[in-house]
Amino acid sequence: MNLLYKDLKIREYKISDISGLTKCIIELQDFERTFEPDRFKGSKMAKKYLNYLIKECAANKGKIFVAEDDGNVAGFVSAWIERDPIAKIIVKTHTYFYISDLIVRKKYRRSGIGEALINKVEELAVKNKIKLVRICVLAKNKIARSFYQELGYRDYDITITKNLR
Ligand SMILES: CC(C)(COP(=O)(O)OP(=O)(O)OC[C@H]1O[C@@H](n2cnc3c(N)ncnc32)[C@H](O)[C@@H]1OP(=O)(O)O)[C@@H](O)C(=O)NCCC(=O)NCCS
Repeated sequence: MNLLYKDLKIREYKISDISGLTKCIIELQDFERTFEPDRFKGSKMAKKYLNYLIKECAANKGKIFVAEDDGNVAGFVSAWIERDPIAKIIVKTHTYFYISDLIVRKKYRRSGIGEALINKVEELAVKNKIKLVRICVLAKNKIARSFYQELGYRDYDITITKNLR
């Protein structure tokens, strides 16, 4: 993989990234809202949601990795270990790294950053002796689905939904 931004660094987040991370969450949420309008506006949830990500990572051997371009957060990924108690009864591999969020800001897309962020999570999983990675992606998000497919991910289960009157 060749990153087009040669000064770009992929590293763990620092407190000084909070404002950049918040902007990323707002962009991600507002983008996903174009598919599923029931979602809150990014500006309404970003701060609370970032706190949630930080807590989940701390509790479950997770990390937030940022892509930094000259002090700017170009994108981030967050992931932690999940253990599904029901899956434990049903399948052999029931502990996995769960990628909760991934975004590359618009102007940085298509230059290998998304792939580099996912690679970081996969390395972290291997370090933790975990051999499964899962991500939840909106069915309507065709670009993300083809991105993940390109990186070797496949559809696993499908959540179906119906709004009642
Ligand atoms: C999905 C996303 C993270 C990809 O990040 P990115 O940095 O642009 O991706 P990369 O440059 O690493 O792309 C790797 C490969 O994925 C595929 N891919 C990426 N974007 C694509 C697109 N728009 N259309 C088709 N394939 C695409 C390509 O095969 C690409 O390799 P190539 O550029 O050599 O052809 C980015 O588009 C994004 O932030 N989208 C909005 C937020 C989002 O949907 N997040 C996922 C939530 S589950």
